[in-house]
Amino acid sequence: MALNPDLIVRPEEEEIQRAAKALHQGHLVVMPTETVYGLAADACNPLAVSKIFEAKKRPTFDPLICHITSNSMLHKTAAFVPDVVHKLVETFWPGPLTVVLDKHSNIPDIVSSGLSTVAVRMPSHPIARKLIDAFGGPLAAPSANMFGKLSPTRAEHTLGLDGDIASILDGGPCAVGLESTIIRYHDGILHLLRPGGITAEELEHVSGLRPVLEEHAALPEAPGQLASHYAPHAPVVIINEGEALPATMKNSCLITFSRARDENHILHQEILAPDGDLHTAAARLFELLHLMDSYSPETIIVEKVPMQGLGLAIMNRLTKSAAPRV
Ligand code: TXA
Ligand code: MG
Repeated sequence: MALNPDLIVRPEEEEIQRAAKALHQGHLVVMPTETVYGLAADACNPLAVSKIFEAKKRPTFDPLICHITSNSMLHKTAAFVPDVVHKLVETFWPGPLTVVLDKHSNIPDIVSSGLSTVAVRMPSHPIARKLIDAFGGPLAAPSANMFGKLSPTRAEHTLGLDGDIASILDGGPCAVGLESTIIRYHDGILHLLRPGGITAEELEHVSGLRPVLEEHAALPEAPGQLASHYAPHAPVVIINEGEALPATMKNSCLITFSRARDENHILHQEILAPDGDLHTAAARLFELLHLMDSYSPETIIVEKVPMQGLGLAIMNRLTKSAAPRV
């Protein structure tokens, strides 16, 4: 079962008020954010939050992010904010940065999967902000896709969900296009739990600490725990820029980094970043993987991007989308 496309609405004031009311009644709402679309519920209502896990078929050991719009909401969500984290959020909020902090008792255990910590983010997307303000409290929201599948960067991408969803607020394509960066400051170390919209270089510049990338953390961290994630229907194969296409691959689609190729045995070709800019590449990655899936190719071949700045987050998503699936 998929959702009825009629649930997609223009985010006029009236629809936002209606959505906020539905959230108060324990229903779910799909909201646009600057990173990807989120599936939101009242973070303080355990029953409503449980519907998120159901709608996504998400294992309950994978904790959710609380979305807020103010410092007062931050202090009702987290019990303590270290100085370094304070400095980082002052710089990067509102925006694509999520911080893992000691959880406030207001937030039920289902949100944090029983951890004593909670992930918090202040989004910059005007519709997400209007919805949180109209609702008046933190909204728990994961990406609005089925667990393990491609992340949604347009309202239509969320129609594969199935659950108690009151509406899908259409905010157009997401500007960043990749999920937020997730960090945790603990015992003097800045842990990078998931690379994302804010780069490691930017975090280091502001905090004076070099973030430590946690690929195999002991906690049930970001989807990084599971090798396969962000997967389109077709298998993904990663090649170097300019590398010859694998000879055995017929009926494939190709995504090059910045330059078109002269290939005539493929179904369809797209350029990730015609301007060579990694921001463009990030914003278009999920979008193009969704598009390529619509050609039903045998494989989607994707060129690597440079491993600097946003390239780390892009290659993180790409590697997981190409990982063997269970
Ligand atoms: O950009 C984003 O972050 C988007 C938009 C909707 O805000 N949200 C998003 O949520 O990507 P989700 O659920 O797909 O990924 C959140 C990740 C999870 O994989 C989870 O493991 C990690 O955040 N996380 C949540 N709470 C945590 C905690 N207390 N400790 C460590 N990791 C946590
Ligand atoms: Mg996700």
